[in-house]
Amino acid sequence: MSKYIKSPLNYTGGKYKILGDILPCFPINIGTFVDLFGGGFNVGVNVEADKIIYNDHNVFLSQMFEYFKQKGLIIIDDIYSRIAKYNLSEENTEGYLELRKNYNKNKDILDLFILTCYSFNHQIRFNSHHEFNTPFGKNRSAYNKKIEENLIHFIDSLQNENIEFYSKDFTFLYDLDLGAKDFVYADPPYLISNASYNDGKRGFKNWGVKEETQLLELLDYLNKKDVNFALSNVLTHKGMTNDTLIKWSKKYHIKYIEKTYSNSSYQRKNKDKETQEVLICNYKP
Ligand SMILES: C[S@@+](CC[C@H](N)C(=O)[O-])C[C@H]1O[C@@H](n2cnc3c(N)ncnc32)[C@H](O)[C@@H]1O
Repeated sequence: MSKYIKSPLNYTGGKYKILGDILPCFPINIGTFVDLFGGGFNVGVNVEADKIIYNDHNVFLSQMFEYFKQKGLIIIDDIYSRIAKYNLSEENTEGYLELRKNYNKNKDILDLFILTCYSFNHQIRFNSHHEFNTPFGKNRSAYNKKIEENLIHFIDSLQNENIEFYSKDFTFLYDLDLGAKDFVYADPPYLISNASYNDGKRGFKNWGVKEETQLLELLDYLNKKDVNFALSNVLTHKGMTNDTLIKWSKKYHIKYIEKTYSNSSYQRKNKDKETQEVLICNYKP
């Protein structure tokens, strides 16, 4: 069994698989820990700190986690009641579509979580009107014991930690009074990859050169204030390189995490298709 807690959301770009590389690089005795692009909260939920700040500009995520923290394990019973109400299963497309329609009308946050259990690849995706639009994961996705186990551990941790939830643009960090004991982890969308939260069609701001530049400026500002930070990113991805980031990173310490390859064996042989994941820190990790 892994020693790390896994988010109950199968979140695109989630860092669960590489927590063993990332977390040992973080400082110890952290005052306030900021998970600036929290997403599925795989990272912050595993960090020990006096206070943890979760932030993601997708308001539905912070609402969901705040709800989990407030309600606690009682939601497990509620999940089973909803599954029975809509007769949800791996096969029942109509039940899924009915739940999706009702969620988009009523915006009940637990319905959103249940939708992600039955959606294609468990993806959480919206259209520009913030309507959930992931198709059904027919014959593949369902609420199961594994998700339930992850959910229970996740809720336990949320309830035991001092966590504040924000749903702001990352630049809100200029307004926080952080000091030398505090630590900021930034896991932004990657400029040279293409997750759906990058494309600006989901009712949230997209991620482009302007946002990337603003983030690098913010991290330089934190460095000047003696606040430690670690930035996750990729320097190369499927034949592309992020030259601005490579140049910027030379001021700091780079931990090379792992190289991953696109699936086919042809691509495995092709160096151009590799992805170089890194953690860039303003301290020696
Ligand atoms: C790579 S994901 C984070 C994954 C997370 N570390 C995990 O392990 O689950 C990046 C996140 O940044 C969020 N995001 C994108 N632009 C943002 C912005 N301008 N301000 C705050 N969050 C943003 C996206 O909604 C997405 O959830």
